[in-house]
This record gives sequence, structure tokens and C-alpha cells, in this order.
Amino acid sequence: MSGRILLTGGAGYIGSHTAIALIEAGYDVVILDDFSNARPDVPDRLEMITGRSVPCHRCDIRDAAGVAAIFARHRFDAVVHFAAKKAVGESMERPLDYINVNCGGLLTLLGAMQRAGVFRLVFSSSATVYGLPKVLPVPEDAPLVAESTYAWTKLASEQILAQAAAADPRWAFGILRYFNPAGAHGSGLIGEDPRDIPNNLMPYLARVATGELARLEVFGDDYNTPDGTGVRDYIHVEDLAAGHRLSLDDLIATDRGHLFNLGTGKGTSVLEMLRAYSRACGRDLPYVIGPRRAGDVDIYYADPAKAERELGFRATRTPEEMCASSWAFILRRRNGS
Ligand code: UFG
Repeated sequence: MSGRILLTGGAGYIGSHTAIALIEAGYDVVILDDFSNARPDVPDRLEMITGRSVPCHRCDIRDAAGVAAIFARHRFDAVVHFAAKKAVGESMERPLDYINVNCGGLLTLLGAMQRAGVFRLVFSSSATVYGLPKVLPVPEDAPLVAESTYAWTKLASEQILAQAAAADPRWAFGILRYFNPAGAHGSGLIGEDPRDIPNNLMPYLARVATGELARLEVFGDDYNTPDGTGVRDYIHVEDLAAGHRLSLDDLIATDRGHLFNLGTGKGTSVLEMLRAYSRACGRDLPYVIGPRRAGDVDIYYADPAKAERELGFRATRTPEEMCASSWAFILRRRNGS
């Protein structure tokens, strides 16, 4: 496939992996990012990996004039919209910030796209829109409920897209609901390494492995799961990136919207993930069992059948590969290379 694609939030964790997948598939990629949660050296690293220089514009997604200027400079065939805030706990403390960035940013982007005559958009949604799922594995038509402000912003964004598409058939939206992204690029040059103490399991395990954090606190071992700890559908970020490429290929080929879960369909417990990371880094990582974290569900994994059937998408990488690639990236990062 060919075409020029704008990646908002393209220097972030999922955005940067998707940039590589798109460039390798033959697309030209332009990045918009405010670098509030991305490292400044990501564009250089993308060039090291792909051998292609990636134009990168530092811009807040809510800055209508800044976004319009990027659309004036490049002629885009489609947009992939990652730029958003994503910490569930923080969203409950600062709901207006989350609504402003996630929903306000989307509206600014859609306005700029409409004025520029660009009507294809792949949107980063989340399995969080399913709330506490009643059916496992979770299909796309499961009931939707917002258990956090973060989830509310994703649900509201999906509804904004539905309203726009209903009013103007030129819009083609690819909505992708991610389960739990994990791992890093095979080069070891890009991955997830948040600046603050991580909330999520994988980056937290990485910090325990380096010794920066003393131990993992396992949030509850009395769940209704085989080993009592929470079970999630971890999907390798390179598989997730491949899903975006397929979604984009399909939007460009058909100009028809779609909605898919991106997951593996398999669940892994916190203790299984801890053991996989221990094997990756070569030592038994310390942990303690703590109380449950408010709002956590016991078990949660995708029904990936629709994405496989209609998009040809299959996530094949294992938790072992997620932990090994994460550790290779963290080691390189700590060694300064
Ligand atoms: N966990 C721990 N200790 C930690 C961190 C996490 O035991 O220090 C456990 C959690 O209790 C849970 C599992 O590890 O059982 C995964 O937790 P994460 O915080 O990594 O991920 P969540 O499943 O809670 O949420 C993630 C994203 C959300 C997204 C959701 C969609 O953070 O943005 O997946 O499924 F909405």
C-alpha cells in the first residue's frame, strides 16, 4: 500500500511501533506529537530502524491552528489518532483534563481533517469500554459501560465518530479496541519506559527487574482465576502495530468504516507474567501480595475472531516474547544505547 499517513501521538509507545509497521508496508509517515509522554529521541530512532527520515511536528492536538498548519503542509491520505491521555487512576482525579485532551483533541483533529478533505481515520480505542465484562471472551457487541473517566472519553469518542459518519458518508473510521499492549520493538531501540512510577504491570515489572523498584505488589490473589491473580489479554505491541496497518489498508481499499478488538484471545495472570519476566531477565523478581486495586476485574480477554475473519489479523507473539523484548529494550536504554 502507499499513501501519506499522519500519526498523531506517533512518538508515543503504540504510535512509534505503528510508524515502523506502516513505513515497512510502504507508507509515508508524518508524526504530530507534543512529547508530553514521549522521548525526544524517538524520531531519530525511527530513522535508525527504518532508514527513512520521519517528518515530526511538535504540536498539541488541541491547537487548531497548529494542526491546520500540518494539514496545509502535507497532503494526507489518512490519519491514525493515538494522541490522548491514558492513565485510568489519573482520569478520575482530573476528569476535565481527560475530556479536554481526549475528546477536545479528537474534535480539533476531525475539524482539520474535514477542512483538508481527509476522511479516513483509524482511532485508538480501548477494551476499557466494556467495563466489567459479563461474557468471555469479550466480543465487539458486548455491552459498553464507562467505569472511569478515561473509559468515558473513549466511549464518547467512539460516539462522536458514529455521529459524524451518520451525517456524512465520506467519513471512514477504523475503531480499534486494544486489550493490554506489552513488549517492545525487536531492535531494542523503542519501547515503553514511562517517566513516572508506572501504573501498568509490564513497565512496573521492568523497573523491578532493573532494581529501580524493590518489588512488584500483586494487587490481590483472591480473584476467581486459576492462581487467584488478575488475568488479562496481553498483546505484543508489534502485533498491535500490524493491526493498525491492516485497518488502514482496509480503510484505504474500501472507504468503509469498521470496529475491531485487537487482542490474542488468551489470558495470562499477574503471577504468570511475573514468572515470564523473571525468565527474561534471569532472576526471580521479588513480589508481595497486596490488596485488590479499586476498579480491577478478575479476568478479561478478547474475542479476536472478527478481526481475524474480516481483517486477516492474528496476534501470535507470546508473553515470553513480550517480556524478552521489553527487557532487551530496557537494558539498552539503561546502557545509554
Ligand atoms: N497489577 C498488579 N500490580 C501492579 C500493576 C498491575 O498486580 O503494580 C495487575 C492488575 O491488578 C491487573 C494486571 O496487573 O490484574 C494488569 O494491570 P494493568 O494496570 O497493567 O492493566 P489494566 O488491565 O488494569 O488496564 C489496561 C490499561 C487500560 C486499558 C485496559 C484495557 O491500563 O488503559 O488495560 O483492557 F483500558
